[in-house]
Amino acid sequence: MDGILDILAGRWSSRAIDSSAPIAPEVLERLLEAARWAPSSFNNQPWRFLAFGPENADSLEKARKALKRKNAWALAAPRLIFVLCRTDMPGSRIPSGMPMIPTYESGMAALQMALQAAYEGLVFHQMLGFNQRRIREDFKVPENFAILTAVAIGWPGNPELVPEEMRFMETEIRTRKAISELVFSDGAVPSE
Ligand SMILES: Cc1cc2nc3c(=O)[nH]c(=O)nc-3n(C[C@H](O)[C@H](O)[C@H](O)COP(=O)(O)O)c2cc1C
Repeated sequence: MDGILDILAGRWSSRAIDSSAPIAPEVLERLLEAARWAPSSFNNQPWRFLAFGPENADSLEKARKALKRKNAWALAAPRLIFVLCRTDMPGSRIPSGMPMIPTYESGMAALQMALQAAYEGLVFHQMLGFNQRRIREDFKVPENFAILTAVAIGWPGNPELVPEEMRFMETEIRTRKAISELVFSDGAVPSE
């Protein structure tokens, strides 16, 4: 990972969060500001966020209740953010055959937030393991918005408090495919 930005090389998704360390509002604001400046085709900005923390404790509690049991470790997070995406774009110049583009853009917004979180030294862990219907109903998310991910955000905590079956991931060496498996300039892209 030589030569790339430290926040890219160092970013990873821990589950060890300090439940007693609050995230100041100005830190949260910087995360959201980072997301706000994500690349956006024709400036559509399809991303929206549901952001919960101690200032809206009842909502935070409701959001926590929507997490699936396998994500119980995320109950330690002082803040949860849900990434939403507007799926209809009336008047947009996005070609009609490319309905995935708003989702692509919202993913980029989530990544910008993840990188700002890495810069701040925060744990930022995205999760699909939550009850979609509950979030949609409890927070009146309109039908033209997809709820893409929940994110647990907090300061790093004690890895010993992560459930035993997941604890190994706290120390596991991260790996990725080699560039040669990803990049092609001659011949067909393999189907696998
Ligand atoms: C869309 C999406 C959904 C995910 N859902 C969960 C989840 O429900 N629970 C979980 O522990 N990790 C989930 N993950 C995995 C972590 O967020 C993380 O990507 C994974 O642990 C890899 O770690 P890394 O970011 O350190 O490479 C999800 C990741 C993505 C991108």
